[in-house]
Amino acid sequence: MLYVLLALGALLGFYLLLVQTLFKGSKCHGKLPMAGKTVIITGGNTGIGRATALRLAGLGARVVLACRNQDKAREAACHIQRVTGSTDVVYMLLDLGSFRSVRSFAESFLKAEKRLDLLINNAGLVAHGRTEDGFGIEFGVNHLGHFLLTNLLLERLQEGGGGRVVTLSSIAYRWGHIDFQALLERKDLGTGWFSWQFFSAYCNSKLCNVLFTLHLAKRLQGSKVTCYSVHPGVVRTELSRYVGLWQKVFIEPIARLLFLDPATGAQTTLHCALQEGIEPFSGRHFSCCAVEELTPRGRDHAVAQRLWEVSEQLCGLSSTS
Ligand SMILES: NC(=O)c1ccc[n+]([C@@H]2O[C@H](COP(=O)([O-])OP(=O)(O)OC[C@H]3O[C@@H](n4cnc5c(N)ncnc54)[C@H](OP(=O)(O)O)[C@@H]3O)[C@@H](O)[C@H]2O)c1
Repeated sequence: MLYVLLALGALLGFYLLLVQTLFKGSKCHGKLPMAGKTVIITGGNTGIGRATALRLAGLGARVVLACRNQDKAREAACHIQRVTGSTDVVYMLLDLGSFRSVRSFAESFLKAEKRLDLLINNAGLVAHGRTEDGFGIEFGVNHLGHFLLTNLLLERLQEGGGGRVVTLSSIAYRWGHIDFQALLERKDLGTGWFSWQFFSAYCNSKLCNVLFTLHLAKRLQGSKVTCYSVHPGVVRTELSRYVGLWQKVFIEPIARLLFLDPATGAQTTLHCALQEGIEPFSGRHFSCCAVEELTPRGRDHAVAQRLWEVSEQLCGLSSTS
């Protein structure tokens, strides 16, 4: 039994090493000009979001860090300003687990900022719990909060020429499943204290990210705004902060050895933000700075449309609001 486990562990390690090498070799070469453009990055205070913000600020974009924790946001903004020399990095409070907060963020942003060129739906978590509005926290934050945010900002994105929406999903979407009946009855796509339960809810929320992008692209046809979903690789960040102690003991050494650093993990997001000529791939999924074919679950237009309608209903968002 021990030998089987060791062999499986070695196989998994080898596979991860191979995939991570591919990611390490892929770099964003996009050169779309960023000076004078305005970018929102949700969860830009740490991890992949922070690395993305650093690069975009360095290229001259006005960067708005949309974060739920004021102290962390202020620290990140100061750090990015110091490193890049940019004076155009600000933060605004946004808790994606609260419709009230999302609406208030959008209202303040639309009042204060004249343009929006790039919305990066980056924030995410793997955790157990409920949002302020009673939704399962992973569905509520990873999908629903971003769904509402994007809809409230879409008009401003459309006013400029060629805005983009980049949404962080994950390879975990492949194991996701959407049970609409359970969603409408319980307001979640799985919950529970055990790690496997909230990992399963995480996969479901990441499938939502992919399907949201698929349907958004359909709705945006004929406009100049495009959208993309992203798998960033397996990256050493704070994403596992809420998992149990024994998983941390297991994950930590592997993370140190094999996981990508956040700057490398930000490359595919940056590719979707900066690469010229990817507009025909609107709605598609990117990994390793290239388009990746989705599994059938990720390209089910009927489920994507149903998810859109249910999400509108759950957010209290009619097509005119
Ligand atoms: N790391 C990976 O290997 C990996 C793989 C595939 C996909 N992803 C995706 O990449 C994205 C970025 O994750 P990461 O790895 O950089 O994780 P991270 O270091 O934990 O960063 C996540 C960010 O999301 C923010 N956030 C969480 N809940 C929020 C809420 N309710 N409102 C606003 N912001 C909130 C966090 O804010 P606080 O700091 O205040 O908590 C943090 O800034 C996520 O969508 C994740 O699913 C990551």
